[in-house]
This record gives sequence, structure tokens and C-alpha cells, in this order.
Amino acid sequence: MCALTPVTMAGADTWVCPYRTKIYMQKIVIQGGRPLKGEVKISGAKNAALPALFAVLLTDGPCRLEQTPDLRDIDTTLKILQHMGASVKMRLTKSAPLVIDSNGLSHPETPYDLVKTMRASVLALGPLLTKYQRARISLPGGCAIGARPINLHLKALEKMGAKVELEGGYVNTSAKRLHGERIYFDTVTVTGTENIMMAATLAKGETVLENAAREPEITDLANLLIKMGAKIEGAGTETIHISGVDTLSPFHHTIIPDRIEAGTYMIAAAITGGNILLRNINLTLVDALAVKLSEVGVKIREEKDGLRVEGPKQIKAVDITTAPYPGFATDFQAQFMALMAVAHGTSVVVETIFENRFMHAQELVRMGADIKIEGKSAVVKGVKQLSGAPVMASDLRASAALVLAGLAADGLTEIHRIYHLDRGYEHMEKKLKKLGARIKRVKVKY
Ligand code: EPU
Repeated sequence: MCALTPVTMAGADTWVCPYRTKIYMQKIVIQGGRPLKGEVKISGAKNAALPALFAVLLTDGPCRLEQTPDLRDIDTTLKILQHMGASVKMRLTKSAPLVIDSNGLSHPETPYDLVKTMRASVLALGPLLTKYQRARISLPGGCAIGARPINLHLKALEKMGAKVELEGGYVNTSAKRLHGERIYFDTVTVTGTENIMMAATLAKGETVLENAAREPEITDLANLLIKMGAKIEGAGTETIHISGVDTLSPFHHTIIPDRIEAGTYMIAAAITGGNILLRNINLTLVDALAVKLSEVGVKIREEKDGLRVEGPKQIKAVDITTAPYPGFATDFQAQFMALMAVAHGTSVVVETIFENRFMHAQELVRMGADIKIEGKSAVVKGVKQLSGAPVMASDLRASAALVLAGLAADGLTEIHRIYHLDRGYEHMEKKLKKLGARIKRVKVKY
């Protein structure tokens, strides 16, 4: 027996004994075939909490954030902020509000070791540069779902007066004070819009963002920045106006619910023929998905306490094409494909946002799905029943798709590399267990 210690390099679910003879990881094991029933509370949104945490860098003084989910990406962000010199108040429980103070920040830089595990750390760039006149950011590399460049973030900052240099895998930026500009994004970019919106809050003059992302997380960030004293109009539309101010104040903000987590549980109800009440979510946040789920036969209705989702006996096949908000989110594509794998008929799933976001398809095929990839499209012929199999998670939403497939499959499914799941789904196996799923997390030896 050896005492296990975590190895951060390899991910939060990787453990090694001190003699380094054995590596332990975690996997999720699911015995499928049980309809989910009961209630689930949706957590705060990961993709709203991340920019909110970086917004702390825009001010001096304690900022208070409520409903931050207990996730690995949140822990990574806190480590990045601490590395820079911000102080994070100890919390007695992970559900307590986060209090972060970036007063006296000493290192305006994000280190490679942390950035390589979380691309969203690029969100430090805008706030650091506009508040501290310089920022050194480790360049995020490609990731499993695509190349994911940050050229549009850098182009916008250069237009606003920043000097940008790439050196040794880092982006070094500096500017005396950024100035307002008209920025047109060639491609709709979520973190690009957030980064430049934050940078513009302390710039001199007015910035206009055109072809801006319209996701609810953008609006949530704008609301938070407005609480800090920023002057922002039009967030949630494709044109955002920001008039720069001289200083911003600390904030107290509650993060919006996670629409992607909510949608994943809606699909869980659908794929298992279950009946779930989702608390802490409203229909407008999951609108495009709800429309598609209604088309496949799922019943969805708003109740006093939340959103009731009831799966049909037989799911119908429908086509989907991913698009920026308010279109069908790419973050639902993998989970929806798992649903279509057991639908009656053939569906075509088109992915337009990321160039490599079909990694889950081959894993679903291992479970008996009939899926053919043709460029940006996947042709999914529904089968009567998936069968449990050992499968490998490749990214966050792909992992969720495999969990959903496992819940519906006949027999035992083992999902490996679940550290992806821990980046973005708060206590997923606990929530699913409460809904009646036979699911557990176990350590495996390699
Ligand atoms: N793009 C560029 N240049 C840029 C920025 C983006 O070409 O400078 C391209 C990307 O390569 C991609 C498209 O624009 O093809 C859209 O990418 P976007 O910048 O919108 O993605 P992101 O901001 O990096 C966020 C979410 C993702 C979500 C996408 C799309 C966060 C922290 N991440 O990523 O969430 O898939 O928007 O909606 O908000 C997830 O949660 O699993 C996740 C990947």
C-alpha cells in the first residue's frame, strides 16, 4: 500500500504513489438502462464565472462572487490569480462566495504550466493590459476540438494602441493607455468579445464592438462590469458600445446558471425516457436546444420551481447545425449526437464553429452507434439500442456525451480520462446518482 499524492501535470484525477511505480487515474462506470427521475439543481455557469474572475483584475479591493461552481477550471483560475499576487479568501465550503482581492498585484502574467490546462486564461490579457499597462500571457496552444487561435483578440488590442510581441511562447503586450476604437470581429468570438469589452472599460474614449458575440455569458459579464462603474450599452446584441472610465470599483455579483449543464441534463432526461425537474434555470437560457428537443418528442414545460423535462418513448431524428448564440450551441453538439444515435431515423449534425469537434463520434460507434463523418457533417443513423463499452473522453462536452450514451446503453460503460468532465460539470456523478442513475467513480491503476 502506498499513500497517493495528486499529480497536477497530468490532471486532477491522476495520482501517483511516492515510489512512482504505479499511476492511478479515475474512470466513471455506468450501468445503463434506467430512466432518470427527480430534481437536479443547476450550478453557476463555468463560462460566466471565468471572465468574472478575471474581471477582478480591473480593480483594487475585495470582489465577491456568488454561485461559482466547484470545478477544476475555477481552481486553475484562482491559481493564476494567486500567481499574479491576488489574494483569495479561504472558503469553509466550496459553495461559499469567493472573495478575491487583486490589490498590490505583482506579476501581471499567466504561466504556461497553468495556461496549458485551460485556454480561457487568455481572458487575463484585456484586464491586465488596460489596468497595469502591460501583460505577459502564455500563448494557449491548440486543443482537442480545434486550433483556437487568439488573433482577433490581439488584432483588436493592437488597434486600440497596444504593442504586441510574441516571444518564447508568450505574448508580451504593453500600452500607456488603450484608446477607444471601432472593432469589427471577422468571426464571432466569445472570449474575444469578453477580453476586448474588459479592455475597453478603462480605455480612453469610446470603443464599439461590431459582430460581437451575444451569449448570455457576455451579458452577465457586462452587468458585472456595469456594477463596477463601467459604461456599457448593447451587450447581448451584435454591437456593444463601451465608454472608457478612469477607475472601476470592486463588485458583488451572482453568476448566472449554467445553460450548458442544464441542457446536458435535459438531454439526459430525453435519452433515458426519464422525467426531471431542473431547478435554477429558465427556458430562455436553453431556447434553441429546447426547440430541437421538442421536435424530437421531448415534453418541456416551465413550472413554478423550474423546468420540467420528460423524455418520449421513441426519439425522432432531426438535423442540427451549430451556430453562435442564439443558434444551436456547439457545446451541445456532442450530447445531441448521443441522443440522435438512438433516435428513429437519420439525422445530420453539422459543426460550424470548431474544426475538430467530432472526436466523440468514434467512441459512440464503439458503443454500437452508426455515425459517418463527412467533413463538417456527421450522418447519424439511429440504432435501437447502444451497448456499454470502455470509451475514452477527449474533451469536456465529448465526455458528457459519453456519459449520456452510457446512461441509455445496455450494460456497463467505462469512461476513461474523466478529468475533462471535472473541468466543467459540478459533481456530475453525484447529481446523476440522485436522479437514479447507477453510476460511480473509481480509481484505476495503470
Ligand atoms: N476564433 C478565431 N480567432 C480568434 C478567436 C476565435 O479564429 O481570435 C475562432 C475559433 O477558432 C472558433 C470560433 O472563432 O472557430 C469561435 O471561437 P470562440 O472564440 O467563440 O471560442 P472561445 O471563446 O475560445 C467559448 C467557450 C467555449 C465555446 C465557444 C463557442 C468559454 C470559456 N469557452 O470559447 O466553451 O465552445 O466559446 O461557443 O467561454 C466549453 O465550455 O466546453 C467550451 C469549449
